[in-house]
Amino acid sequence: MEQNKTIMEYETVALDDADSALVVIDQTKLPAVTELLRLHTAQEIWDAIYLLKVRGAPAIGVAAAFGIYLLAKGIDAQDYETFYRKFCEYKNYLNSARPTAVNLSWALNRMERVCTDNRTLPVDEIRRKLKETAVAMKEEDIRVCRAIGEHGLTLLKPGDGILTHCNAGQLATCKYGTATAPIYLGQERGYRFRVYADETRPLLQGARLTAYELQASGVDVTLICDNMSATVMKNGWVNAVFVGCDRVAANGDTANKIGTSVVATVAKRYNVPFYVCAPTSTIDMNTPTGADIVIEERPAGEVTDMWYEKPMAPAGIKVFNPAFDVTDNDLISGIVTEYGVLRSPYTESFAKLFEHL
Ligand code: MRU
Repeated sequence: MEQNKTIMEYETVALDDADSALVVIDQTKLPAVTELLRLHTAQEIWDAIYLLKVRGAPAIGVAAAFGIYLLAKGIDAQDYETFYRKFCEYKNYLNSARPTAVNLSWALNRMERVCTDNRTLPVDEIRRKLKETAVAMKEEDIRVCRAIGEHGLTLLKPGDGILTHCNAGQLATCKYGTATAPIYLGQERGYRFRVYADETRPLLQGARLTAYELQASGVDVTLICDNMSATVMKNGWVNAVFVGCDRVAANGDTANKIGTSVVATVAKRYNVPFYVCAPTSTIDMNTPTGADIVIEERPAGEVTDMWYEKPMAPAGIKVFNPAFDVTDNDLISGIVTEYGVLRSPYTESFAKLFEHL
């Protein structure tokens, strides 16, 4: 890390067009080491997404948009058919990196539409438009997160205790985060929140990333193990839970990091409101219910070996390692979007929202 620069001053995802590089912070090394990766090839970009070097639904979307632009820039073709065929190969490849966060396919589909809508233009002009769109998506992400922060803040009062799970912070987006956006805006305005960050087994995004970025921003943050959320809620220390999401189904069921539905269930037991922060790009009206969301399963070694000096479980043990779970819509007090806070029944509030977009 450069001297005197905090993690908040680094860009989670950036484009270096002169070097044809996608630049991301290697999040697997945080908080110990801040290293910027310069990714050039399809394989490098795919690996960075799969290995969670860049992670969090909105950040994955923007990384994929920059990535596909850079790959399109490198396609050696001037005729549309050849260019588009190769574009789709790259698109399908990047899209296969992770299945649950809808922002990945959402961003890649939006980039594909730039090609198909402009098929009659010279290929170089399409490449230029792809860059313009990817840059706009990053700017939009920042605006959207800030708007989520403003709406989320209306649900809180100064001094509140907030619990969050995983990292839906600046490191998962281009700025502010989603679940952390109300916290950062509140911090700017002297709200003095007390935040509890779940460590988030098995990959520790809460401990390594959320605790790190909130602490670097001067927020009062306390790290807890995942199995302590009932204790802090029963003690009355938590006024609201704020989490992010990877895909919201049309009925309001929500996929987010594994363990989120446990937090939601506990919050219901202790009458703590449970809010999901969701850019509208994460609401997937083509997925009817949570049961239709594909849940990524990841290697056993993430549970048994990673983060330990030596494997901490018996060799050959059977492991179940789903990366996400689905929180049923009846456990969700509100879904905070860039357009406002949506309430149950979500089928109706989504219909009303998308009618005007
Ligand atoms: O596996 P990850 O680290 O990509 O999971 C991230 C989450 O579950 C986040 O809560 C979600 O993507 C929202 S990020 C604003």
